[in-house]
Amino acid sequence: MKVLMVCLGNICRSPLAEGILKQKLERAGLDWQVDSAGTNGYHIGENPHKLSQKVAKHNGIDISCQECRLFTKADVKDFDSIYAMAVDVIEEMKWIAKDKFDSRKIHLLLDVLYPGEQKDIPDPWYGGEDGYHEVYKLISTACDKIVAEALQPG
Ligand code: 4NP
Repeated sequence: MKVLMVCLGNICRSPLAEGILKQKLERAGLDWQVDSAGTNGYHIGENPHKLSQKVAKHNGIDISCQECRLFTKADVKDFDSIYAMAVDVIEEMKWIAKDKFDSRKIHLLLDVLYPGEQKDIPDPWYGGEDGYHEVYKLISTACDKIVAEALQPG
């Protein structure tokens, strides 16, 4: 399985999502590949936001080596499941992927917990550290569900 986590900047939310899912998969003994990307190009090549790194580290996860990259049309083909952090991210992905956008493999991350409710992982970019802890909790709960479902027989 190859999973891609996508947000706008690939600097706050999706790097955390990549780190969190990788840790849970490793603990569950599942050998999946996980990557992350962003739909805007403002931070290409940068490491995750300092507060994302801090909150990850607080939870035993090192995301300091991740580097921001853009979401591309080719990602839709290359990955089995793609999780967007928010509705506006999905809209950007549609614009980038055009005819390759595939709603069978592209989902809102919080749809795994609240199907059909169109819930966003809030963008913590303009706020303080508390927002990053909130983002961590939401992503962690969704990733618990992804891993639990993967471990279910059948
Ligand atoms: P992210 O947060 O999508 O969680 O990485 C953002 C980071 C940067 C910007 C927007 C959102 N920006 O506009 O630069």
